[in-house]
Amino acid sequence: MTFHTEPSIAEDSYIIPVELMLAKGSLLINGQQIRVGLIGTGNIGKIHLSGIAALKEAGLLNVEIVALCDIDHEVLQSAGDLFEVKKLYEDFKDLVNDDDVDVVYVCTPTNKHMDMVQAAARAKKQIFCEKPLAHSCPQARTLQAVTQDQGVNATVGLVLRFDQFLLYAKKLLQENDFGKPMLAHIRDDQRFPVDYSYYSKWRGEKALAGGGTLIEHSIHDIDILRWFFGEVETVFAKVSNFYGREVEDHASLIITHVDGKVSTLDSIWHWIDRPNERAIEFFFEKGYIGIRLESGKRYLEYHLKDQDPVRIWQENADIALIENLGLHSRNMSPEAVETITSVGTERYAALSYSFLSSIQTGQPLSPNFVDAVAAHRIVDAAYESANKDRQVDLL
Ligand SMILES: NC(=O)c1ccc[n+]([C@@H]2O[C@H](COP(=O)([O-])OP(=O)(O)OC[C@H]3O[C@@H](n4cnc5c(N)ncnc54)[C@H](O)[C@@H]3O)[C@@H](O)[C@H]2O)c1
Repeated sequence: MTFHTEPSIAEDSYIIPVELMLAKGSLLINGQQIRVGLIGTGNIGKIHLSGIAALKEAGLLNVEIVALCDIDHEVLQSAGDLFEVKKLYEDFKDLVNDDDVDVVYVCTPTNKHMDMVQAAARAKKQIFCEKPLAHSCPQARTLQAVTQDQGVNATVGLVLRFDQFLLYAKKLLQENDFGKPMLAHIRDDQRFPVDYSYYSKWRGEKALAGGGTLIEHSIHDIDILRWFFGEVETVFAKVSNFYGREVEDHASLIITHVDGKVSTLDSIWHWIDRPNERAIEFFFEKGYIGIRLESGKRYLEYHLKDQDPVRIWQENADIALIENLGLHSRNMSPEAVETITSVGTERYAALSYSFLSSIQTGQPLSPNFVDAVAAHRIVDAAYESANKDRQVDLL
């Protein structure tokens, strides 16, 4: 079968007119500087720090990283040196109560999120908390309630909402007639992340991680299925533990959504030395969309009935992400485009841009803690279904 490939975006899309180069400040949002404090300077904490630093460097945001916290002194010091941050704390309460901090990023293992988010909300800080928000839906609800009661903005690290291919798929669905949704399927496989590209012993311990591949990793996939196919009515799940760890290494779910839409999810943590891969497929009555992520070969294919299939590579999909953030590539420096779209801190910088600029402009946050609670509710239902070996109704 021959695939049509969309032509590359013209190079001049990335050329900034001289007047914009001279007025780089015009790309800054006219809000006050946002001062960030981040707790947990490990793997994802450093990725967020790189993203925030790049947003500042590229002139996309008026933001400053003012304080860091980690219980591991060496890790903390090295992040402080790397990002030139002077205020370094080993107790998170000192960071959340620091008057110089406006926004708190919580990037610690999941069992710490409850205390940290509640303390940050009570200190009236705006909050970014990594996913999973907590170990269960009731805990996630507690966090949503406390942020609401304290009147603070709160977002969650469901970062696939900033994936350029998923946003491109959303755009395709808006602009074409794909017909009635029939099935969504996600197969998500990842090398068990305890000792792979980074050491992460806590992910093997249930008391710290809350669970395995389903809650720790595939809560992203569940959020995507809900984002595309709507609210969930029933869940049937099988969960296995092949390697005898404290947490599961496999979960398969059949989900029904509103209007009879069906989705399935297969999530696996294995020990094979292969690239992590996420394969996402949507079947509609009049078309198909398939997305391959994280295999080193990221692309989207779509096929409308009676038309040739089309393959989209990242440079074309990037436009969907840039537009989604309310930005215009013609007005952005190549550095700014790279910050938002490049693989590496990609998605995370976009998520921070969306979060921090929403705070500056007073726009509603997405995804927010309500989205996180909804994803946790589906995760809890899947564990319950697997335990009881029956379908769980969420209506
Ligand atoms: N959104 C995503 O794609 C994504 C990716 C990776 C991790 N995560 C989530 O981010 C969180 C952290 O994961 P990670 O991979 O960065 O783990 P990590 O182990 O690499 O880093 C966690 C850091 O938190 C520090 N820490 C632990 N307890 C602390 C405390 N009481 N006070 C201050 N610091 C403390 C540790 O010393 C460590 O440096 C988890 O909830 C994980 O699920 C999300």
